[in-house]
Amino acid sequence: MSPKSPLTMLITGGARGIGRGLVRHFVQSGHRVFTLDSDLEELQNTVSLALKQWIPEAESRDRNSGIKPLTRFAALTVDLKDRGAIIDAVGSVAQFCGENGKLDVLINNAMPGPHTWSDGRVMEDADAAIMVEWDEKVQVGLTAPFQLSRLCVPLLKVDEDEPSVPNPQLNPEEGGDGVQETSKEAERDPATMTNTKTKQKPGCIINISSTRAHQSEPDHEAYSAVKAGLLGLTQSLSISLGQRHNIRVNAIIPGWIHVGNENRKADAEKKQWVDGLTREDMNWHPAGRVGKVEDIIKTVEFLIESEFVTGEEIRVDGGVGRRMVYPE
Ligand SMILES: NC(=O)c1ccc[n+]([C@@H]2O[C@H](COP(=O)([O-])OP(=O)(O)OC[C@H]3O[C@@H](n4cnc5c(N)ncnc54)[C@H](O)[C@@H]3O)[C@@H](O)[C@H]2O)c1
Repeated sequence: MSPKSPLTMLITGGARGIGRGLVRHFVQSGHRVFTLDSDLEELQNTVSLALKQWIPEAESRDRNSGIKPLTRFAALTVDLKDRGAIIDAVGSVAQFCGENGKLDVLINNAMPGPHTWSDGRVMEDADAAIMVEWDEKVQVGLTAPFQLSRLCVPLLKVDEDEPSVPNPQLNPEEGGDGVQETSKEAERDPATMTNTKTKQKPGCIINISSTRAHQSEPDHEAYSAVKAGLLGLTQSLSISLGQRHNIRVNAIIPGWIHVGNENRKADAEKKQWVDGLTREDMNWHPAGRVGKVEDIIKTVEFLIESEFVTGEEIRVDGGVGRRMVYPE
């Protein structure tokens, strides 16, 4: 995607894993990224990578292309269980958006692990730990995306008061009758069907769900409920925010995306993507391999650029969800 028109993006859970890959890609590509994460140590490592590698790469390209240097990256430690902290964080995001106050993309990616219940628990255990974990997963994985989407609407929408491109048919000075209604000709002519949003496009929201919204192994009730909830939230937001502000909202449904190389420890050990994966892991996928962060990046780019796609769910699982499994 062209760095000539840098996008301003908010990505949650950018300290490690898929989120870190998204942050790296979009910063390196010349876009402006704000990320939120609760893991201080991982986030510090990501900030250090951004300052030492990703930003200098993007800035050297800017210098060569004559683009004005921008504040390219900001990171904040925020626990997405904390509604007050989310409100403060969106205030910082608004400052990051700068003078025009425009956010182009919100990616709701953060989710506490593991996907199963922690410490080998099962849902019928007698103690209260299961309910504490349920609350945390629902708060971070579902409530926070809703709250962030809600609070970011003023940043994602295009200001209705912004002056529109002059339209001669509606302008008495140019020979029109000044009536603020669209004439039959105007309705037929796409050039006159522009509205006050001609100058800027509204932003979009991308929610990261999971194939576990539809398919299960034992013992991940909270994770599945959150990820299925995100799909309901996506379709509902796409209508409410689309109707009022033309904000598009889509979901990505990843299958197995191997991120064993996307964290601080793996950096220190110089781990490669393939480390820890077997031939069997690869062959289990009809596409012939396990998923990579790049597979999610490509889907995010597709959704950002596809102005006629909203309310959709895109499965990125190498075909595993289509596989019929019988007992051997
Ligand atoms: N990797 C996969 O195979 C896969 C498959 C399907 C869906 N997903 C989804 O993709 C997203 C990223 O997954 P991942 O594999 O990169 O996971 P990950 O655990 O590597 O990264 C998740 C990030 O979210 C952050 N986070 C957790 N709790 C938080 C909180 N309370 N406040 C703020 N940040 C918090 C973590 O610190 C971490 O940086 C998740 O939503 C996950 O459910 C991943």
